[in-house]
Amino acid sequence: MNVLAIESSCDETSVSILSNGKILANLVSSQDIHKIYGGVVPELSSRAHLQIIMPLVRRALVDSKIENEKLDLISATAGPGLIGALLVGLTFAKGFAYSLNKPFVPVNHIEGHLFSGFLMDEKPEFPYLSLVVSGGHTLLLLVKSDTEIIKLGNTIDDAAGEAFDKVSKLLGLGYPGGPLIQQAAKNQRTDFINFPVSQCKGEFDFSFSGIKTSVLRFVQKEYGDTSKIPAEHLPLIAASFQKSVVKALVEKTERALKKYDVNSISLAGGVAANKLLREEFAGLANRFNKKLVIPSFEFCGDNAAMIAYRAQKVYEAGYRYDFSFNAYPSLNDYSFIK
Ligand code: KG4
Ligand code: ZN
Repeated sequence: MNVLAIESSCDETSVSILSNGKILANLVSSQDIHKIYGGVVPELSSRAHLQIIMPLVRRALVDSKIENEKLDLISATAGPGLIGALLVGLTFAKGFAYSLNKPFVPVNHIEGHLFSGFLMDEKPEFPYLSLVVSGGHTLLLLVKSDTEIIKLGNTIDDAAGEAFDKVSKLLGLGYPGGPLIQQAAKNQRTDFINFPVSQCKGEFDFSFSGIKTSVLRFVQKEYGDTSKIPAEHLPLIAASFQKSVVKALVEKTERALKKYDVNSISLAGGVAANKLLREEFAGLANRFNKKLVIPSFEFCGDNAAMIAYRAQKVYEAGYRYDFSFNAYPSLNDYSFIK
């Protein structure tokens, strides 16, 4: 089975071709334009997707040596994400599928991340507990099968990646914040300041807007503003912040591990690239004697290979869609996650 998938929910345009489960192409084009604005500008994102999508699809087909007629399934991310950005990939995919008279399957972006561990040689085993942490989402999920997914916890405000991005901007480090904060925090002590992470009512819920405010208040109180932070303090603030966010993520995951009997643990989404978080998850898996699956860096961030994998599973489970299917900007509109 040959699947072509498109991912365009945010600031990466990606096209992938999966042939009998093997990745023949996974092209990712990242939009650098947003760096100067310190965050993703939706209109610029849509335009950039439009410019690159056609050449990227062509290249994926050429690289894979797959002809249009040999494709069995066409797919695209349908949500959640930026509506204009989603519409570019989804509309292209629907048009392509229609012109070739091939089936089309829309994929939920979170589900793409959630199952991305299956792109690795070592795969998760059902039931598994998964933490999906990205720029837009922080979800703790219990995955019982391909079509039974239970949401245990969610962020009540900012996503973990969003906190990294906002604090990075506040500290003058730039965008995207996660890798820059990680770099600044490298080999630094983590007890310079204790940034508290708010506790939530929900047993497995998260909250990250408070910590962002704590960093802001600390900077204002100690230095007046960002430009006056002494160069030697910047890495210490970054390390203290990173430690607190990771601690909150690990604590809730540990709580869920005590409650649910699972076979594996998985970590997915852009923030899963974080070294400290990966190390802490390795420790958790060790303590609870569970198999741990974290995608390689290429598959942590947004990519179409995870969309192709998910599309095939949804299709094989018997789900069919017509071309009237539309893009949805939020999680609840379209999902197998209950
Ligand atoms: O999954 P993703 O590529 O896009 C979304 O669906 O949001 O995730 C992007 C997010 C950004 O917030 C970025 O700062 C964060 O992932 N990120 C990281 C790291 N690398 C990327 N956060 C912490 N540490 C990292 N090394
Ligand atoms: Zn994502």
